[in-house]
Amino acid sequence: MSGSANVAREVRRRRTFAIISHPDAGKSTMTEALALHARMISEAGAIHGKAGRKSTVSDWMEMEKARGISVSSTALQFSYTSEGHPVEGGADDDVAYVINLVDTPGHADFSEDTYRVLTAVDAAVMLIDAAKGLEPQTLKLFQVCRHRGIPIITVINKWDRPGQTPLELIDEITERIGLVPTPLFVPVGIAGDFRGLLDRRTGDYVRFTRTAGGATIAPEEILDAEAAAAREGDEWTAAVEESELLAEMGQDHDQELFLAGQTSPMIFASAMLNFGVRQLLEVLTELAPAPEARNDIDGEPREVGEPFSAVVFKVQAGMDTSHRDRLAYMRIVSGEFERGMVVTHAQTGKPFATKYAQAVFGRDRSTVDRAYPGDVVGLVNATALAPGDTLFDGPRVQFPPIPSFAPEHFSALRATSAGKYKQFRKAMDQLDSEGVVQVLRNETRGDASPVLAAVGPMQFEVVTARMKSEFGVDTVVEPLGYSLARRTDADSAPELDRQRGVEVFTRTDGALLALFSDRWRLQFIEKEHPDLTLEPLVATA
Ligand code: G4P
Repeated sequence: MSGSANVAREVRRRRTFAIISHPDAGKSTMTEALALHARMISEAGAIHGKAGRKSTVSDWMEMEKARGISVSSTALQFSYTSEGHPVEGGADDDVAYVINLVDTPGHADFSEDTYRVLTAVDAAVMLIDAAKGLEPQTLKLFQVCRHRGIPIITVINKWDRPGQTPLELIDEITERIGLVPTPLFVPVGIAGDFRGLLDRRTGDYVRFTRTAGGATIAPEEILDAEAAAAREGDEWTAAVEESELLAEMGQDHDQELFLAGQTSPMIFASAMLNFGVRQLLEVLTELAPAPEARNDIDGEPREVGEPFSAVVFKVQAGMDTSHRDRLAYMRIVSGEFERGMVVTHAQTGKPFATKYAQAVFGRDRSTVDRAYPGDVVGLVNATALAPGDTLFDGPRVQFPPIPSFAPEHFSALRATSAGKYKQFRKAMDQLDSEGVVQVLRNETRGDASPVLAAVGPMQFEVVTARMKSEFGVDTVVEPLGYSLARRTDADSAPELDRQRGVEVFTRTDGALLALFSDRWRLQFIEKEHPDLTLEPLVATA
């Protein structure tokens, strides 16, 4: 088989997605359930670090353990053989799908990071707690997906517990975010009495049987409508009526509208009992898009079959304190990646050797030899790489930079001991280049006390914790009274600096930023000095 035919086949069987949800909706439980149904190809140690479970991926930092949240991205790769719609062509092993699940940090403060992760996926699963409906973090992540045009599959989780009715949940989603759910399955049994699913496309009943503690795949029995009615009586009738009502309202799946982000195939599930999980895998493989061409900085598409190219979407250091290193995660956009190949870093034009490419993140790592569009690969010792950077082979390509959120929290940072200045400076450069926070400086404050700009205050805790654990520097964070930043220029800077409640800084990338105490202060100055340059920072959500 020729190289390009091979890439085309590998692309066809790949699906790369993320789960977007509010903390506690069941993302970790669902990830484990998916892993149970599919065959893990690359296991990132274990999946999650909640108490009592195996924990290796997300415990790289003490703070994270204490809070039980995940601040690092991980990517898991599964293989899944679909019964309903096998991959075309190829023998045995080739017919399995390769599914990449890219983890999103769960806490609201890490939305900048999350935004970057969402640039690496082709689809998202919006996981909703049946009792709670849409929650704030889900809404925020949804907006990012919508902005990027990422198609969304909706999963109503925890159907084994009392919750809202399907129609209430559908109404809420339609009205609040303008996304029209098109259920592929409706539940048989109300929330809290989950018996199975009515498959709206076949009319059949998928009946589930509980297993002890939901620890194994729940056995399924497929019954036709008549047998289902005899078995479940009123519960079946109610599901049929609901399905008919949805059809009357025009809420049937439409692939084009789904890919355009207007409608969302919907499933009801219990991640804990493993109900509806196979259905989610079937929907992902059947309906979610395979990796596609991506436009470069000039708007020209880089087709998946062209020579290798990839985008770095996250850079992380200090995951392994025994040998300090820096891992850059890239999402492959085109071509075949082979470990050891020397590629070009578009931003510097310099060669980059990929000898230490890794498929696995977290503490346990294994090398990756080959990877294809849609796959996520970690590159070790990637000191020169920053989020948004492009790597390529063959014809030159550079992808557009990843837009960032506008920061709203500003704090001064300094080392408690002046003797540690050198380490402090080095650490600051490191965290800055990883994009953990934005670093601002001005002459008045000097180099020993830079100002950190963040989307959420927890980013400051990450900085102080890493300063100590990785660089042995104790630091203090002093929150400043600013809440708003505007981009300005050298002509306007002196006048702005004279204003009360305003301070001007230079960001590492050279941009001049003016910080304001609040919106009213900004509006007042804009009115008094209409000639000053004051532009909003790029905000993407
Ligand atoms: P997250 O990653 O989205 O934050 O959520 P996680 O999977 O940790 O789930 C949050 C809680 O919800 C957990 O309970 C989990 O067991 C429960 N849960 C997840 N999916 C389901 C479901 O389908 N049905 C029911 N009934 N519960 C579900 P916990 O008490 O916080 O933890 P644990 O003691 O169960 O581990």
